[in-house]
Amino acid sequence: MSAIICKELCKTFHQGEQVITGLDHVSIEIKKGSFTCLSGPSGSGKTTLLNAMGGLDTPDSGEIWVGDTRLDTLARGALADMRLHNIGFVFQAYNLIPVLSARENVEFVMQVQGVAKGERRRRSDEVLAEVGLQGMEDRLPSQLSGGQQQRVAVARAIASKPKLVLADEPTANLDSKSAAELMALFESLNEQHGITFVIATHDVRVMGYARRLISMRDGLIISDEAQQSHSMVV
Ligand SMILES: Nc1ncnc2c1ncn2[C@@H]1O[C@H](COP(=O)(O)OP(=O)(O)OP(=O)(O)O)[C@@H](O)[C@H]1O
Ligand SMILES: [Mg+2]
Repeated sequence: MSAIICKELCKTFHQGEQVITGLDHVSIEIKKGSFTCLSGPSGSGKTTLLNAMGGLDTPDSGEIWVGDTRLDTLARGALADMRLHNIGFVFQAYNLIPVLSARENVEFVMQVQGVAKGERRRRSDEVLAEVGLQGMEDRLPSQLSGGQQQRVAVARAIASKPKLVLADEPTANLDSKSAAELMALFESLNEQHGITFVIATHDVRVMGYARRLISMRDGLIISDEAQQSHSMVV
């Protein structure tokens, strides 16, 4: 079963006179429950592909399917709805709301989803404990380390129980220990809850966890290999 299917995706960016290739006829299938890394040099198209897969950006041409839903032709409202209920995003910059506590940051998305107050509290406590932040629920982002803030961002991404998590350079701001902890967390979420992960990264420590490693260059997929995952050496 496929979590994502991309068919012949093309995306160009225009900067004045210059035409920049983001994606050049990229076709790819991501299986449900898989753990995939997108690697490649800066500017190779990793973020562009991830954003297309998550419906954060629309391609110029091609098709994107997430489950049974075709994303690239969805109306804005339906697309936002699809993202909200089916996809968890984890970004390099944690994108937490600075004036909200860890718990409130996690509850915020559920509030938008219309989850009732009691259920929001129960679920936010549950996911914050799952990412190892029990006892820190009331802290503001500024009162947490980078690794802990990233964990809040992961808790927020999984609070809505998405089947798919897309992460863009999730370890870029983390020290080795926090990065290893985050990847162990992703691995257990993948293995225990069957959540599909696609992670864009140039971090070789992260690539070690992937069971499929896709390399990009100049908006093209240049290699696509299955590999044995092995945990990070700290
Ligand atoms: N909004 C934009 N406007 C103009 N060019 C863009 C835009 N977004 C991306 N690009 C260009 O598209 C190409 C692919 O960018 P992308 O961000 O996908 O690369 P990346 O592989 O994620 O790089 P990095 O590893 O640095 O994050 C690059 O040449 C980039 O400069
Ligand atoms: Mg990028």
